[in-house]
Amino acid sequence: MYRSHTNGELSAENIGQEVTLSGWVQTVRDKGFVIWIDLRDRYGITQLVFDKERCPATLFEEAKKLGREFVIQVTGKVIKRTSKNPNLSTGEIEILTQKLTVLNSAELPPFTIEEDTDGGEELRMKYRYLDFRRNPVKDKLIFRHKMAQKIRNHLTDEGFIEVETPVLIKSTPEGARDFVVPSRMNPGKFYALPQSPQTFKQLLMIGGMDKYFQIVKCFRDEDLRADRQPEFTQIDCEMAFVEQEDIIQVFENLSKTLLKEVTGKNFEKFPRMTYTEAMKKYGNDKPDVRFGMEFVELNDLVKGKNFKIFDEAELVVGIKVKHAADFTRKQIEEWTKWVKRPQVGASGLVWIKFLKDGSRTSSVNKFYNEQDLQKITDSFSAKEGDLIFVLSGKKNRVRAQLSALRMELGNRLGLRKKDVFAPLWVVDFPLLEWDAEAQRYHAMHHPFTSPKPEDIPLLESHPEKVRANAYDLVLNGNEIGGGSIRIFDKDLQSRMFNLLGFSKEEAESQFGFLMNAFRYGAPPHGGIAFGFDRLVAILDGNEGIRDYIAFPKNNSGHDVMINAPSPISDQQLKELKIRVEK
Ligand code: AMO
Repeated sequence: MYRSHTNGELSAENIGQEVTLSGWVQTVRDKGFVIWIDLRDRYGITQLVFDKERCPATLFEEAKKLGREFVIQVTGKVIKRTSKNPNLSTGEIEILTQKLTVLNSAELPPFTIEEDTDGGEELRMKYRYLDFRRNPVKDKLIFRHKMAQKIRNHLTDEGFIEVETPVLIKSTPEGARDFVVPSRMNPGKFYALPQSPQTFKQLLMIGGMDKYFQIVKCFRDEDLRADRQPEFTQIDCEMAFVEQEDIIQVFENLSKTLLKEVTGKNFEKFPRMTYTEAMKKYGNDKPDVRFGMEFVELNDLVKGKNFKIFDEAELVVGIKVKHAADFTRKQIEEWTKWVKRPQVGASGLVWIKFLKDGSRTSSVNKFYNEQDLQKITDSFSAKEGDLIFVLSGKKNRVRAQLSALRMELGNRLGLRKKDVFAPLWVVDFPLLEWDAEAQRYHAMHHPFTSPKPEDIPLLESHPEKVRANAYDLVLNGNEIGGGSIRIFDKDLQSRMFNLLGFSKEEAESQFGFLMNAFRYGAPPHGGIAFGFDRLVAILDGNEGIRDYIAFPKNNSGHDVMINAPSPISDQQLKELKIRVEK
């Protein structure tokens, strides 16, 4: 038996007992006549004491040789500590050691295994197994597990069944590139790894499974960001005989259960906003509604005053920054530089200050008098001491730019509070989005999404006006999940493929299996998928998902620990009949 207890378990109640513990050496404090060792495992830390007077003499010498991260087993007596540590669950006791076994020695780790480490991201990723020994990393994985457990239980209680779908499939177009896997038995042919189990879950509905879920790995070959990994996990769901409202209800309840678990609070009905409203008010289809700063469109107030830039702009739009009229010239210059960075791309930033003395001034005083400025500040319901930032340009571009500025202000002014949760449903997305480069429409969600029935007549005449039965769940400015009611009629699905520029043959060869299935009694159905990594990170107060994934990839898609991707042998290439350009 390696241990009678874990290192997080013993308390004053165990005083006097003989126990056996195993774990890693966290620290060794050698005071000459006494050595204290912190012994660590997943459950906590227990202090061991090796005392020259009270322990066997050889033991004391052995303890001296221990180093950080040695794996040891000790037997000893639980005694009361003289100086208690209120920060540790085991802080009232220590173990007076009588027996020590070194189970394994350890080299000095490449970074310190402490709460705050000196290891950089890349180094920690290379030695990810050592990183797991640190509380902040370990706790995130445990948190993830707890959330997964809650979700499984909740959905199971709601009558969902978990079904595994294949990983070696044929590509499903969902916007990103596929990762592909060559087939040895079918030279020149490739499987694709699923970007999501979309078509399979629809087939499960046709098969009568009624309520499906899966906590499932998905793969997308896209550029990486803090909230994106090439392989990530979805909570994927589908339901038959449902309308949008049914799905929203089920997943709002699931989200409320998780939010209650994390915050202890009951959440009211989640607010909803149409896509159009979100774009108009926040310039973004995943607005962070924890802080106001809603957009105010100013075209009517600012045009016709000889300020050419505004006169020529499709949209002039601003936000109010409360209590920021005392931003210095230098600060405003910095913000101007910030919006002019290529990543944002604005050509300039106009400001209007409503000063504490009740007067108004701006960077465009030449064109707008006090009265004009008053009308503008009134349109924001601005008060003395507030600042207005204004951008102008092409509608979609300027909205995106102002949205970026708003989020950055939110971050820097501390308005995006970690422990405040603001869920929001964004509904009524457009069905299609125009790709100017390719000169064709793309499905905004995916090609299986149903148009709103009342908009179906517009499909061919005004495709840009057709709204989808699609919805996203947004939490604190992050897209947590998205879903839709699906097309379940063969003819409508054909019209959709046609609109997306698929020829009959292409539609047949790529999606024949689904179209065929529609011939055998497809029920009305719909679903949603939450990004599980994102959900977990945000519920835990973070936006980066990497720390919540046990073995993540770095920004260039590498696993630096196992060194993947990597070349394969000539023999493998030969078998696969693949020639690689060198
Ligand atoms: P969608 O493409 O919106 O929908 O994906 C659902 C959710 O998955 C998360 N997500 C990601 N998380 C981490 N890294 C990524 N690279 C990544 N890409 C997406 C997001 C997103 O909201 N089949 C549909 C769902 C449906 O219609 O039922 C789908 O996959 O949080």
